[in-house]
Amino acid sequence: MQAMRQAKTQKIQAAGVREKPLLAALAGEQKSRPPLWLMRQAGRYLPEYRALREKAGGFLEMVYNPDLAAEATMQPVRRFGMDGAILFSDILVIPQALGIGLRFAEGEGPVLEAVRPGDPLPVFEKQKLEMRLAPVYETVRRVREGLQAESFSDTALIGFAGAPWTVACYMAEGGSSRDFAKARTWAREDAAGFGRLIDLVTEATIEYLNGQISAGAEAIQLFDSWAGLLVPGGNSHSHSETDTYARWVIEPAQRIISAIRARFPDVPIIAFPRGSGELYAEYARQTGADAIGIDQDISPGWAAENLQKKTAVQGNLDPQSLLAGGAEMGRAARAILDCLGGGPFIFNLGHGVIKETPPEHVAQLVDVVRSWRP
Ligand code: CP3
Repeated sequence: MQAMRQAKTQKIQAAGVREKPLLAALAGEQKSRPPLWLMRQAGRYLPEYRALREKAGGFLEMVYNPDLAAEATMQPVRRFGMDGAILFSDILVIPQALGIGLRFAEGEGPVLEAVRPGDPLPVFEKQKLEMRLAPVYETVRRVREGLQAESFSDTALIGFAGAPWTVACYMAEGGSSRDFAKARTWAREDAAGFGRLIDLVTEATIEYLNGQISAGAEAIQLFDSWAGLLVPGGNSHSHSETDTYARWVIEPAQRIISAIRARFPDVPIIAFPRGSGELYAEYARQTGADAIGIDQDISPGWAAENLQKKTAVQGNLDPQSLLAGGAEMGRAARAILDCLGGGPFIFNLGHGVIKETPPEHVAQLVDVVRSWRP
């Protein structure tokens, strides 16, 4: 704890006074109002995104075209003045850069070449990976320039990657799934083999995040969207189940965070192990992430008590509430702010913006957060 505070103080000193509200909150300082950005703030709920995507022809065509990807990153910043600009890319570019086939089928989500237990794994070749990911790094450079050129000097650029467990879920399944039974079965029946897949993704993810930071990302978010699948249910926690969460969720995050810290001690890391329930506290303690992203199942009061004393917290308005909008959304957002807004806190959703959300509701939410006072 002492060491962590000291490291944080050094970070603040190293950077001088942090001007960008998002970076200030991540350094443990809170300005008068909490910074705000939304997961999936760039996307199909925005008409200007739909127009851009039509022009590109497809989602991956956008991701690998730095002009279009930078434009998609900037769209919600221009419209709403967000404090964070999240890089327009996807967590599944990592399997693709490792040589695994990927496409996005209309109305179906991602389709990958599935990796099965016993299959030979792709070989990690640093140069090939860097070559394939170069357009994403170029997007990062262009967004940094664009933020400057368009005078969004308060907006911080957030890079990201999927956490190894979540990426491995898609790799084992060959696409989306409700329960990712293939990954869970593989992890349970052949932990050594599954561990090699996790190690491969971990190594590639470290390279990828280093590349984003070198190109200008100012903070990083690690998305573990399916961490909750490894949280033991009910109250019959067997030891082996808790170990599973530690092994596939906490350990890879520890490795990624310590590798990034070793090279870029000033770049803060937000970790989002969605669905972790009470294990959020254990995750926060063991990974030492600068901020913890909480989903809508966590009560803000619990987060204030169990997370915010040690790290910054990000979250956690229900995306359904944003979809609905109106007075009820205003009340829900203010209830979160009243609990966590004293800081360090970053306002966000508990998961991504739902594509049917009217952009006007996002504008309303931005007003609610901006006009809130402690
Ligand atoms: O605005 C942003 O958040 C920036 C970019 C971003 C995207 N995906 C763009 C995207 C980010 C940070 C992600 C993360 C991501 N991608 C996650 C983790 C967060 C989460 O939602 O749990 C996951 C699991 C993925 C994998 C993925 N990408 C799926 C399962 C899908 C299909 C479902 C869907 O929403 O269409 C995608 C596609 C995707 N990624 C879109 C966007 C804008 C939609 C593409 C389109 O049709 O235009």
